[in-house]
Amino acid sequence: MNNLKSIFLLLWVLHQAAGVAQAQNELTDFLDKAFHKQRRDALRQLMPAKSVAVFFANPVRNRANDVEYVYHQDPEFYYLTGYREPHALLLIFKEAQTSATGDKYNEVLFVQPKSAYMEMWTGRRLGTKGAKEKLGFTQVYNNDKFRGFSIDFTRFNKVLHYRLPNDVRNGGLYRLIQQFKSKSKMQTGQAERPKNDPNNNLDTKTLHRFMSQLRETKTEEELILLKKAIFISAIAQKEVMKAMKPQMSESEVQGIHEYVFKKYGAEYEGYPSIVGAGHNGCVLHYITNNKPKLGNDLVLMDLGAEYHGYSADVTRTIPANGKFSKEQKAIYDLVYKAQEAGFKQCKVGNAFNDPHRAAVKIINKGLAELGIIASATTHHRYFPHGTSHYLGLDVHDKGRYGTFKHNTVITVEPGIYIPEGSPCDKKWWGIAVRIEDDILITNKGWVNLSAMAPRKSDEIEKTMAKKSPFDEIKLPDLNELIKKNK
Ligand code: GLY
Ligand code: MN
Ligand code: MN
Repeated sequence: MNNLKSIFLLLWVLHQAAGVAQAQNELTDFLDKAFHKQRRDALRQLMPAKSVAVFFANPVRNRANDVEYVYHQDPEFYYLTGYREPHALLLIFKEAQTSATGDKYNEVLFVQPKSAYMEMWTGRRLGTKGAKEKLGFTQVYNNDKFRGFSIDFTRFNKVLHYRLPNDVRNGGLYRLIQQFKSKSKMQTGQAERPKNDPNNNLDTKTLHRFMSQLRETKTEEELILLKKAIFISAIAQKEVMKAMKPQMSESEVQGIHEYVFKKYGAEYEGYPSIVGAGHNGCVLHYITNNKPKLGNDLVLMDLGAEYHGYSADVTRTIPANGKFSKEQKAIYDLVYKAQEAGFKQCKVGNAFNDPHRAAVKIINKGLAELGIIASATTHHRYFPHGTSHYLGLDVHDKGRYGTFKHNTVITVEPGIYIPEGSPCDKKWWGIAVRIEDDILITNKGWVNLSAMAPRKSDEIEKTMAKKSPFDEIKLPDLNELIKKNK
């Protein structure tokens, strides 16, 4: 073999190796481009004649100075495209359009351009070529091409879009929004055209209805990812049960959950993790998680891994010392009973509110029997939230809140919260319990997808008595290190 040949061979081998490395650079179980296309087609079916739907990518948000929040794509943009980068625009047309060169198309994607310099700082970009290959679009342009893109939105019967964000001040998304306003004759300062404009074809209501209909029920591909998110979260809850010690802090407990999420490849938490000991559990969206010692409190832990866009939402409430007190157990078992009653209502055709009605009935009766309220009809604040919401790409996912359909996933999450100073015996004060599971409803019945996390009070106690791999983790004492390194 001559030198030239061997150089070519070497280059070919390196190229192949780079391809493999690139392919192994991230997990490979993402939704397929066919899924996203099928979802766009399903939306197109719902759209009225001579309409276009307009979707913008989520804005990049500033955290402080030159640090941005971790970017998260708008779930709907992801659902329809699979594109996970910012500064992008998607147009879906009801009818095929014809370009100046005679090409037919019924959707266009504008993406952020490739840039060797920017990719050095913030990572790879798909660019137009990548979006064509990986996402399966045929019409893809760099976002700076939208300005010269020939489209007059006023000639459509309906332009379906969401209210535009009015706090995006610069960058590619800002320019896309400005150009959309200009091409649809919207005043630049407005988020939508005035209602009294007789030529107003801009519609910011209907898209929500269509997307709620599509997202309410999950396809088989979506269920695989949602189950992964839920299983990971349930495993994390179980591992925390084994690892918890009274001397741990709330944030340490959060750290164990989130370590397990990451270990299984979940990219994010679906919402800020809630770990509240004792009274902190009464704060429904408690996210400070900064109590240094759990002590003998009940610890309410509401966490959900997000796996490839799909979010779990699982709550367990456990005694930090491994054993429920008499009062803690009485409240816990009542919430458990209410949740069981809620599960039984998870049937195709039942009203969305049926699990809540069933749970409220049990809780009111139980609180009266424990003497916490005067009678089952006494108005009280101990169960101040709903029992269910849809679950999917958003933790509070879109849906129509009508009757249950086949392949719907909802939470069932009753709770009792008794803050200090409540009008009942002091022995109940500071007890907060929520039990939350993720339920798949199908024509065959319901399945608890988060059942891997122990839920019965005696099963929780048994699990907490087990050894944990986290028992072995010993780190140096920070204060000692400070003293030594003065
Ligand atoms: N984690 C929020 C909720 O349970 O709805
Ligand atoms: Mn929930
Ligand atoms: Mn929750």
